[in-house]
Amino acid sequence: MNVYDSARILDAMAALGYEETQEMTEADLMMINTCHIREKASDKVFSELGRMKEIKEARAKTGKQTMIGLAGCVVQALGEEAFAKVKYLDVAVGPQSYHLLPEMVTRFERNHGRQIVADFTSDEKFDTLPSTKARGFSAFLAIQEGCDNFCSYCVVPYTRGCEYSRSAAEILTEARQLVATGAQEIMLLGQNVDCWHGLGLDGVHEWGLARLFEEVAKIDGLKRIRYTTSYPVDITDDVIAAHRDIDKLMPYIHLPIQAGSDAVLKAMNRRYTVDQYLKVVDKLRAARPDIAISSDFIVGFPGETDADFEKTLAVVDEVRYAQSYSFKYSARPGTPASLMRNQIPEAVKVNRLAVLQEKLLANQKAFNESFMGKSLPVLFVEAHDGQVSGYSPYLQNVHVTTKAPLLGQIKNVKITRASASSLSGDVI
Ligand code: 5AD
Ligand code: SF4
Repeated sequence: MNVYDSARILDAMAALGYEETQEMTEADLMMINTCHIREKASDKVFSELGRMKEIKEARAKTGKQTMIGLAGCVVQALGEEAFAKVKYLDVAVGPQSYHLLPEMVTRFERNHGRQIVADFTSDEKFDTLPSTKARGFSAFLAIQEGCDNFCSYCVVPYTRGCEYSRSAAEILTEARQLVATGAQEIMLLGQNVDCWHGLGLDGVHEWGLARLFEEVAKIDGLKRIRYTTSYPVDITDDVIAAHRDIDKLMPYIHLPIQAGSDAVLKAMNRRYTVDQYLKVVDKLRAARPDIAISSDFIVGFPGETDADFEKTLAVVDEVRYAQSYSFKYSARPGTPASLMRNQIPEAVKVNRLAVLQEKLLANQKAFNESFMGKSLPVLFVEAHDGQVSGYSPYLQNVHVTTKAPLLGQIKNVKITRASASSLSGDVI
């Protein structure tokens, strides 16, 4: 979602004549788009800001002015506090207000002082942003933002605000802009994408996600549709059926379970049991037997016992995930879990994470190895040093050594090598 937001920030600033640069030292405006979801990401912000300050000072010596900006959830969470703490910060904008950046930057330039906005106005944001363009062959498109789930460890409902769905018309217009400017693949984004319920094209009735897939799939030139992130029990039967019926919808689903113990899930305020989760997995596999499933995991949630943790390992054995993201629980300010008394010692978390990651990596390796000798259609998106790489339908990273101009194309690749992190082979 932050990658998407950063692209939209570039769109917004382009209206003021700003262009993207790959060199920090060339930038008149440097911005960090921040994440507050875990302690580690949030902590990095202030050291990065320090680095920017050094560049600003070096540029000042050559007579160049530089503006430093902060965007995203850290601004939303810390607000004025972050602003007061970092004196050299010139503009700060929350994730729902970045459409106001051009105005804020202009005000700052005209000596109206430092600018901060951290309001929840996401409907206005999408109404005001200028048109967008693809910045590669695969593009992100936010269809839904915010979350009403209030998992007890999570800051998202406090930083991104309550759940909001964009209209089908708005989404389709943006999807067409992306395809017209080179996107072959679109990843539809939402913190809780399955609860998307935007206004349909008749302007009267709301649509569900499966209906949206159907309409997006009709866009000529678009080859692949993906979506993330799914809340396990919010997936409807028609979305599951779409995995069987819509060719452009890729056989991949990110389905975070977080933990494999019902007691922990309950304490996390997740609205499902392990059994219910596994039933969703079964239904998905019945509809689309080859579907790749990925998940997020949190280890060391307050009160998690060794026996609870063993249950997480058992789920991993049962589901055989194609990919996964796993994290040590970190207490986030303002969340109910941060106040729970039975916090887990760091050493236990470190140990559990290592055990879990070893198992997840072995699963991922086995999944990738199952494609040895087989052929996979790969959308090529990147080229460097004589290698072209792209993604299989199952979101595996596939490398090919060739000088052929493959970028932006889908070609069948015969897989000759497989590791936990990637595949390689030859174009057939
Ligand atoms: N500690 C650790 N991981 C977290 N996540 C969200 N909040 C926390 C937290 N407080 C993880 C969840 C979520 C992913 C995006 O980040 O696994 O699915
Ligand atoms: Fe956070 Fe996801 Fe839970 Fe929403 S569903 S509160 S975004 S973990």
